[in-house]
Amino acid sequence: MPHASPTSLFFRNAAQLITLAGPPGPRRGAALGELGIIPRGSLLTQGETILRVGPTRSLEGQALRLRAEAFDCRGRVVMPGFVDSHTHLIFAGSRVKDYELRLRGKTYEEIARAGGGIQSSAQKIRKAGVLFLAQLARKFLHQFAAHGTTTIEVKSGYGLEVSQELKILRAIRALQADAALDLVPTLLAAHALPASFRGRAAQYLEEVVRRLIPAVAQQGLAEFIDCFCDRGAFSVEDCRRVFDAGRQFGLVPRIHAEQLSRTGAARLGIESGAASADHLDKLSAADIRALASSNVVATLLPGANFHLGLKQYPPARKLIAAGAAVALATDFNPGTSPTLNMQFIMSLACTQMRMTPAEAIAASTINGACALGRAECVGSLEAGKRADLIVMEVDDYREIPYYFAVNHCVTTVKRGGIVYSR
Ligand code: NIG
Ligand code: FE
Repeated sequence: MPHASPTSLFFRNAAQLITLAGPPGPRRGAALGELGIIPRGSLLTQGETILRVGPTRSLEGQALRLRAEAFDCRGRVVMPGFVDSHTHLIFAGSRVKDYELRLRGKTYEEIARAGGGIQSSAQKIRKAGVLFLAQLARKFLHQFAAHGTTTIEVKSGYGLEVSQELKILRAIRALQADAALDLVPTLLAAHALPASFRGRAAQYLEEVVRRLIPAVAQQGLAEFIDCFCDRGAFSVEDCRRVFDAGRQFGLVPRIHAEQLSRTGAARLGIESGAASADHLDKLSAADIRALASSNVVATLLPGANFHLGLKQYPPARKLIAAGAAVALATDFNPGTSPTLNMQFIMSLACTQMRMTPAEAIAASTINGACALGRAECVGSLEAGKRADLIVMEVDDYREIPYYFAVNHCVTTVKRGGIVYSR
């Protein structure tokens, strides 16, 4: 799918060029709303990299000399591609059954206890091969690109046993070989206790620590290690054990924290040096202060709240006011958030969590990049960074969340090559 990337592309005359240029590190507080907009701006690429960004007139000469292919972006917004820092891309079929059960009144946790939920996704994984899993995911990846996402984190987690988890991570590796987007693999080592280990969580974790983590590390199959630390999933002590083992093998923690109940998971994330703590619906005031004075990126996933039909959303305003580094992601997964559209996540962030459109953009790009440890190469449009950008069919960035649930993206550029256009 990636086009042969021409030496140089020239995106000229954008109504707004959203650079998000700024000091290194995640944007906090008032800085989260500073987009570094260049009106009637242009961007010039060379190979996979951004060569220059600036007012159109200042770039015309150089674009001509380089014989750059020019794209007229009049009346459009040009911005960094979305960095979706939390997805469960690899699964083998939807959970429409759970969806309908919830609509009829059952809760997410009731369905999980009755053997639906993650357990039912694990059963489907068992029957699928690596190539089939990769093929299913490839279709979604095209959709991610079409909606403007250029970097995505991908978790394992529906395997629930060593061989199945390795199979999922191999499917991710197979995708990396030909995907237009950059994929960042995470071992979701503790997601749910398999039915065969009921009442024996410690033994299951023994398997994870002694067999799964070393195998994943030795084969270089993941960069991060994640745990679902919550009521009905794994305890803080369980997850600490997994993170300690992961860190010994160079896997950086990230954590599903405080989604269904407050367990102290966010604190564990801080203590473990996690790159991010995700969900954060049930934070205490002290948790918010602790996150704000840490380097952990507070990643909010309002797609899950929306799909589960919850009235309450994570406390974005309190986190921003306290100075936490807030990111947004889809949490794309068949159980709680079957959306891959970061534009819709922005709409939810604005309407349901009262983030401003500017904050939602920064949280979906540069702060997502920080959550994945990739802020030096993606997340903003600055000379020397990777040429990952999107062209949106609106002339004011605020219209992206405002006209909600439609796709504004008309062109997606990844590493200087056009991977989607319409
Ligand atoms: O991020 N919370 C745990 N994991 C996913 C949902 C998993 C599932 O139900 O399939 C989440 O919401
Ligand atoms: Fe998740």
